[in-house]
Amino acid sequence: LAQSATYTVLPSVLLTGPSGAGKTTLHTLFERRTTPSETHTSQTPSSTELAVNESRTSSYREDLDATGATAARFLMIDTPGHGKLRHFAYERLGAEGIQGVKLKAVVFVVDAAAISEPEVLADTAAYLYDILLRLQKRVASAKSGKAPYAIPVLVAANKTDLFMALPGKLVKSNLEKELGRIRKTRSKGLMDSGVGADDLGGGADEGDDWLGEYGSEEFKFEQLREFDIDVAVEAGAVLGDKPRVDKWWTWIGEKL
Ligand code: GTP
Ligand code: MG
Repeated sequence: LAQSATYTVLPSVLLTGPSGAGKTTLHTLFERRTTPSETHTSQTPSSTELAVNESRTSSYREDLDATGATAARFLMIDTPGHGKLRHFAYERLGAEGIQGVKLKAVVFVVDAAAISEPEVLADTAAYLYDILLRLQKRVASAKSGKAPYAIPVLVAANKTDLFMALPGKLVKSNLEKELGRIRKTRSKGLMDSGVGADDLGGGADEGDDWLGEYGSEEFKFEQLREFDIDVAVEAGAVLGDKPRVDKWWTWIGEKL
């Protein structure tokens, strides 16, 4: 008790992504280290304290407390992916600085076995668009002043144990195409009204909801570098013969 009263601020990692992608399954795997538990669709966020060793080389399977290895602790925050419950994740993105929260990275889990279905791709990309746009605005709105620290994003292409899963490369290109389509659709209202970008008075409003390089034809994740946002796409699987989540764990460890 005395120890928990020291109010140390733990760096946190936000787990987001559409419903059913496997966030909670992944969360319980990291928490339990060997096998994930069965899950139900999440309705509230939940946090787990996890740790990597000082050099960020330890596996999620290692119990660092038991081995006595000095560890870097962090909080993993699992959020619900249902369309009506995404405010929980948005709040976390905006909570930086409040209650001493230090958000270090965002892991966006997608279902690679379902993403070739148009509705799944549309829903997944719409959610990702909103997450990335929030991160972009966080940087863009601070342009004049001191730039905030960078928050990188990992798109974890999950369920690649299933035969119908798309490989990471295709998950990436499909998402980029769909994000580009969303970008066009969202800016269309403005263009149809006959208001050109030049007429908008420029300044902070210019392309406010435009993700990535302003006015570009195609969307690429690389365009977010301009806003100091690194997006990586890595395939893996929480279930299957054995979990393949080490790349995700390593990515997280490097961002802490
Ligand atoms: P919400 O809480 O609704 O946002 O969903 P979630 O992202 O937390 O999904 P959850 O972890 O509950 O997993 C949904 C379903 O996918 C469960 O039936 C899991 O068993 C299954 N699942 C998760 N990961 C994998 C995987 O890597 N492979 C396979 N085949 N199934 C998986
Ligand atoms: Mg869940």
